[in-house]
Amino acid sequence: MTKPRLAIIGCGFWSHYQTAAWKELDDKVEIVALCDKDLNKAKTQAEHFGIRRIYNDAGELLKNEKFDLVDIITDVDSHASLVKIFADYGKAIICQKPMGPSYSIAEEMVRYCRNKNVRFFIHENFRWQKPIRLLKKLINDGLIGKPFKSNIKFCSSFPVFDNQPFLAELEQFILTDVGTHILDIARFLFGEVDSLYCQTHRINPMIRGEDVANVFMKHLGGVHCYAEMSYASILENEAFPQTFILVEGEHGSLHLGPEYQIHCTTKGETVNYEATPDVFGWSLPDYALIHTSIYECNLNILEDLLGKGKAETTGEDNLKTVKLVFDAYDSAAENRVIQLDL
Ligand SMILES: NC(=O)c1ccc[n+]([C@@H]2O[C@H](COP(=O)([O-])OP(=O)(O)OC[C@H]3O[C@@H](n4cnc5c(N)ncnc54)[C@H](O)[C@@H]3O)[C@@H](O)[C@H]2O)c1
Repeated sequence: MTKPRLAIIGCGFWSHYQTAAWKELDDKVEIVALCDKDLNKAKTQAEHFGIRRIYNDAGELLKNEKFDLVDIITDVDSHASLVKIFADYGKAIICQKPMGPSYSIAEEMVRYCRNKNVRFFIHENFRWQKPIRLLKKLINDGLIGKPFKSNIKFCSSFPVFDNQPFLAELEQFILTDVGTHILDIARFLFGEVDSLYCQTHRINPMIRGEDVANVFMKHLGGVHCYAEMSYASILENEAFPQTFILVEGEHGSLHLGPEYQIHCTTKGETVNYEATPDVFGWSLPDYALIHTSIYECNLNILEDLLGKGKAETTGEDNLKTVKLVFDAYDSAAENRVIQLDL
């Protein structure tokens, strides 16, 4: 593959930014067609980005277009069937998070692609945020010694349902939507999880699912990590979409706080590191941090396909994050610690 040809399925809210991020890479990838079951959405997006071919059915797209890679940006209930359709045709597949609506469905998606010998990636972008990459580097550089404890916080009262009304209808909301990102960050920073305990709340009476989740994880490497997620937190400073992280190690602490500043405190001194992300012209101001990470995630996957690197967020890898999400639901429902079966 020298310049992969890409088809995009789903032209809703997130697809616009995903497509804009692919356009930033148009020397390395060519978008050949868009598809949405609502043809008007595909048409609007195609006109905006100058893409000529549109479809309202994945089968028609497959019949009429030559492409190597598909990016599935549809709602979660459609992910498994679309992945299987494209795997049957041998296409490399990128699928948005959350991979599937249950662990067993996600496991089946990974197995199906493996059996078809098809490359399968999950578009898990939060770990590609610039401050989180820098934090990981500072941990790896040994600035605070061996980490033993952490707090990862994604708490706000951002009106997420304004842009994504379907989220209000989900029976399982914050852990599947944001938890996939936050628990993936925990894995990215501290490795695999040995056991976890979770509690959830539904504070907003207008939605079906939980909008608060607190997950306590013991990582195999020894770190105790407390991950907090909330869309019901009315705080002094609205932080969306920033993730705040405190990591404590045997020689000091690292604190990723507001405005992309990381403070490294060791005995006697605090040093400041700055990780302000670049902002693309097409980014929504409220989502700029996340939008830049879409680009980085796309690039990482593309470089793997081009034989120039290794993708981090493969289906196989992301299945471990999906396991944490659904084990967290089981833990909350049964009020018990779950021992991960790794
Ligand atoms: N990575 C992130 O930070 C992030 C942020 C927002 C959304 N997302 C993910 O992106 C995905 C889409 O979310 P959204 O907010 O854009 O939803 P959306 O409802 O706005 O858009 C989904 C689109 O998919 C289309 N669609 C559904 N089934 C289809 C099918 N079988 N064939 C063709 N088109 C189909 C719908 O018509 C709709 O236009 C979800 O998985 C969501 O979790 C990720």
